[in-house]
Order: sequence, then structure tokens, then C-alpha cells
Amino acid sequence: MQTITTTNTTTYSLPLTGAVTPPSLAALAQQPLQPSGILDQATYPRQRLTPAIGIQFESGLQFKELLDMEDKVKQAALFKDLAHEISLHGVGFFPAQDLEADDLARIALLLGEAAGKPTDSVLHIHPTQELGENGLPVGQITNVADKDGRQISFADERSTFASAGWHTDISFEPRPANYSLLRMHTLPSTGGDTLFSSAYAHYDALSPAMQSFLSTLTATHHAEMFREQSRRHGFKLRTDPRGSPHNVGDVFRTSHPVIRTNPTTGLQGLFVNQCFTSRIDQLNWDESDALLKYLFTLQAQTHDAQVRYRWGINDLAIWDNRSTNHSATFDYSALRKGDRAVCCGEQPYYDHNGLSRKAYMDQQVRD
Ligand SMILES: [Fe+2]
Repeated sequence: MQTITTTNTTTYSLPLTGAVTPPSLAALAQQPLQPSGILDQATYPRQRLTPAIGIQFESGLQFKELLDMEDKVKQAALFKDLAHEISLHGVGFFPAQDLEADDLARIALLLGEAAGKPTDSVLHIHPTQELGENGLPVGQITNVADKDGRQISFADERSTFASAGWHTDISFEPRPANYSLLRMHTLPSTGGDTLFSSAYAHYDALSPAMQSFLSTLTATHHAEMFREQSRRHGFKLRTDPRGSPHNVGDVFRTSHPVIRTNPTTGLQGLFVNQCFTSRIDQLNWDESDALLKYLFTLQAQTHDAQVRYRWGINDLAIWDNRSTNHSATFDYSALRKGDRAVCCGEQPYYDHNGLSRKAYMDQQVRD
């Protein structure tokens, strides 16, 4: 049960382009989760991969055992603490997970529920995706397009810079993702690493004046490239609800706050990405272009806000899209395949009571 706070009284002008979505509505703000401590280090050992982002558990933590747990109270407590741990560190890595594709769907929903998602937010169905064998929206991530040319990647859109692919999942939807899960079962002998970056760290890299200015703005996110892919390859796009009654149609365009508060942690992050964010709504085109270029450069070049993961067979990564970006590495030709599930979350909002992650972590050390 999430407590609603009504302390945010900031007002905003409406965006000039795209859907009208005020960046901050007091009723949207949630109280961050308070971990119970059940996910203790001795029972569930893990290590931070960098100060900014990434936590790696040992293979003793098997999600299959958590899913099969008969004590549902304990299961819910574990998922709550896992949601907090993943959201605090941006991405969690869980090596050698013995899971079926459909298990990913259950884990995604349990994590989403633990993090307080709206009840009408469920698993996302990608606009270009076919349902899995059991009718569940667990997508295949692969470097080989299917017979209809469907492929969940930006492979035919990318520039020659590997860093051109930084994005957060489905930010073009009005109810974008909270958690994405990816379990790789087929890998090249080398290559295909995934990079993740911390939106908390990007926010913390900004001056207080820039943080304050950006917190008054919204940005348009769109994915018109899917309509082009559909025209080119002749497949039909999904226009019925994609994991939320708000995610419908073939416009694939919405506006979100530029600074987003993560409801699970209460921490502030920079919420733009170069794949989907096209315009700062309240600025003129040149101002928007210059500012977005700076923010995308900050995201691509701040390598102390990044972690690079080399996959092992059956490794599972779970990341919080509200406070991270990620980028694939297309440096291989052998088959690379995995299963992906994405849970839709809440309407993004900015809460001026949110904290900087750096300040929060410094506080934890002092305490
Ligand atoms: Fe992605």
C-alpha cells in the first residue's frame, strides 16, 4: 500500500508539442519503499560493481526458489527488498538462473507489484512484438529478425557510434516501464556486452541551478520509427493496449518530466534518452536542440556513471528503467538470444521532495 503525499505544489506550463502531460501532479507522488532487511547480505551475498550503478548477486539466489516459495508473506517481503535494491543500484545481475521464459513474466509482475505499480499496469507488449508461445508478452531478444522483419533493436537505425543506442525502455509510452528483465541463453563466445548508466548519477553531475531549471520542464518522447519499420516490412503494429489502457494507438508519442522521481527510492534522475527524446517542450527548437545535445553527451561520456556487463549463459539482468539507460553492443555476428519481459509502471512525475542518490548514499555511510 503506498501512501499518497500532497506536499508538492509546483506548477508547470503545458508542453508545446505532443501529448499534454504535466510533469508533476501532487497526487502521483509516492512514499519510497522502506526495505525490511530480509534480503540480508549473509543470506543473499552480493557486491556493488561500481559506486554509481550495478549490483551482482551470487548464483545462490535462484528466482525459481523465490517463485516456488509457499510462504507468500515472506515472498512478498523478499520481492519488496529486491525491488528496492535493484532500484537503488539501477541494475541487478543474477547469474545462472534456471528459469523458463514464462517465469520472467511472473518475476516482472511480482517486482512491479512490490514497487507499487498501478493495478492497470501489467506486462508491456512491444508495438512490433508477437506474443510468446503461451500467449504471454515475453519477447525474444535476438540479432536475427523474424520472418516478418520484426526485431526489438535499433540495429537498422544506429549510427556508427556504438554509444548511439543509449535508451530506456518504451519511454514513448504514457505509462513507461518500471522493470525490464533480460535472461540471455545463447551467446557468442565474446561480444554482445550490455552497458547500463545511472540517471541518478547524471542528475548528480548537474549543477544545482541546472537541476532546478530542468525540474520545471517536460520532454517529448516518440518512436515513429516503428511505423516506418511496419511500412517497410509489412507487419501490423500493436495498437490495442500495450500493458496499460493508456498505452494505445500508433502515435507512440508522449511527454514526460525531464527530472523524474523514482517512486521506489525517492531519488531524482535525468529522464531523457537519445533514442526516444526529441524535444524539450517549453523551449524553442534551437534551445531544445542545444540542451538535449548536452544531456545526451553527458549520458554517453560520463563513464563513471556506467557499468558494462559481460553476460554468462542464463544470466538474468533486471533494471529499473525509471532511473537508468542501457545500450547494446553490436560487436558480434554469432547468434545471441534471450528472453525479455517488461512491466509497465506509473505515470512519471517529479516530486520536489526527492533526494540526490549521492546525498542518500553518503547519509547511509554516515549512519
Ligand atoms: Fe532496451
